[in-house]
Amino acid sequence: MNAHSPAPPAPPIGLLVELTHRCPLGCPYCSNPLALERPGAELDGETWKRVFSEAAALGALHVHLSGGEPTARRDIVDLTRHASESGLYTNLITSGIGVGEKLTNDLADAGLDHAQLSFQGADKETNDRLGHYKGSWEKKRAFAASVIKAGLPLTINAVIHRANLHQVPAFIDLAVELGARRLEVAHTQYYGWALLNRAALMPPRKEVEESIALVEAARLRLKGELVIDMVIPDYYARYPKPCAGGWGRVAINVSPSGKALPCHAAESIPGLEFWSVRDHSLAEIWHSNPAFNAFRGTDWMREPCRSCERREIDWGGCRCQALALTGDARNADPACHKSPDHARIVATALAESESGDSGALRFRSYKTEKAEA
Ligand code: SF4
Ligand code: FES
Repeated sequence: MNAHSPAPPAPPIGLLVELTHRCPLGCPYCSNPLALERPGAELDGETWKRVFSEAAALGALHVHLSGGEPTARRDIVDLTRHASESGLYTNLITSGIGVGEKLTNDLADAGLDHAQLSFQGADKETNDRLGHYKGSWEKKRAFAASVIKAGLPLTINAVIHRANLHQVPAFIDLAVELGARRLEVAHTQYYGWALLNRAALMPPRKEVEESIALVEAARLRLKGELVIDMVIPDYYARYPKPCAGGWGRVAINVSPSGKALPCHAAESIPGLEFWSVRDHSLAEIWHSNPAFNAFRGTDWMREPCRSCERREIDWGGCRCQALALTGDARNADPACHKSPDHARIVATALAESESGDSGALRFRSYKTEKAEA
């Protein structure tokens, strides 16, 4: 076997399930596709339970219960219990809206291991405006308190962009105040809704660099109290991220209607057929769906990736971003400085960060034509 041959895939480590695309919030950087799946298309509870059992049998270690808002599913406690009893570490990724203390306690009793709560801003006005939901600030804080009271570990997730970049220090204070063990400062990744709103969201490079320095100082100051993870913005990076840990390497996403995907944006790539968990087991999909094999390993790569020393570190970056920004998913992710498209996308980002209008956000909605703010 030469260095470029794809090895047979090891088992996936994790499963990310979008249980529903329903969500009370309207974040303008939502990672869900622009064409949201309708509630009537969602998998039933028994099928989700089978998927959890299959994931555990395949060797997966954890499941992220996500959405939309996963607690919009009436059977969320039942699903959590089954995932936990299947042996999966269960993480709830939630807006915190509609999750009262009783539901939090029921989820904890059902075996939930961890809760990840999003904040759109670090104060009431910013949070409610960017989440497009008045009163969400109080609901989120109440949910955080109920998680701590139930004895569950809490992570605060803050997606960062031009409208809230100045609040990075306040997000850190908020996470400490709420008793979180971990804070994720995630600069926006530009897919789907975020790509649609890119001109309004793109932050200036200098302020991004200042925010990175702030986080590094806070990490030292809060060592032992709060872990801070940071996702830096692709367009200002030197190298791309190993998107999804590498295509078909460590994770499976499942959409509300049951399509199994190597990453959340995979359906944006034309010509790939994604199998449904309704018709195939997860093991069949992982091993045999041609779409999972399309960008596995390094055989598919062109230059500059093919001969690059980082090809098995970042796996060429993100296929979906390569498609969106260069027109071909086989190209190097243009976040990489070796990509011939890198200078162009950095120039675009810089121009947008200076001239984009932060007031022109389009909030996530089933009705995109009415989503103008
Ligand atoms: Fe990664 Fe390709 Fe850039 Fe090398 S050339 S660092 S493999 S994206
Ligand atoms: Fe699809 Fe990065 S989002 S590979």
